[in-house]
Amino acid sequence: MIIAVDGPLASGKGTIARALATRFSLPYLDTGSLYRATGIAVLDAGIDPADTAACATIARALDIGGIDEARIRTAEAGAMASRVASIPEVRKALFDLQRAFATQPGGAILDGRDIGTVICPDADVKLYVTADTETRATRRWHELVARGETITLDEMLAQTRERDRRDAERDDAPMRPADDATLLDTSSLSIDAAVADAVAIVEKRQKA
Ligand code: DC
Repeated sequence: MIIAVDGPLASGKGTIARALATRFSLPYLDTGSLYRATGIAVLDAGIDPADTAACATIARALDIGGIDEARIRTAEAGAMASRVASIPEVRKALFDLQRAFATQPGGAILDGRDIGTVICPDADVKLYVTADTETRATRRWHELVARGETITLDEMLAQTRERDRRDAERDDAPMRPADDATLLDTSSLSIDAAVADAVAIVEKRQKA
């Protein structure tokens, strides 16, 4: 079984995908971490994100085992990820790795922006997790402040809108629900309730 979970920043997709992976004993890949790690590597190498060829070279050389988990979770990494993710050559460089993960025997669960549309258009279950912008910005703001980042809620709101716009308006693999995706709005749901809804959607698909 392949499960695709897509959605915007702080929609709850990562939490839901991880919970589904445990529940259904599937290997899980957070594809955003690949773009985040690429963004950080571009930054560390002093490369201009406008230099698309150099960014693609970095993406091709990405060492997944060496990803610094704490660093890729910063707001800076998220912003860089969204920038490098708009470069088609970078997306191409990360495609095979994601596809190989998805098609391993026994199935897999992947979360991102284009899993149901581009990486796994043939997924058995496609979820598109959303929440309204204020709710998402507030969630991410709490997370970042708890980790010691200095950012105001207004700045977080502006960054969220900017990220959404860039991810949804890029030409290559824009963020959007697949035609056959089930929408799950987590705006007024607790984590447990959102996970329960997601489990129910997967189980219904399994029986169909
Ligand atoms: O899910 P995330 O916040 O970790 O993703 C960071 C950025 O990476 C996001 O703004 C867009 C990009 N991304 C993408 O373009 N495609 C994916 N499948 C996953 C992430």
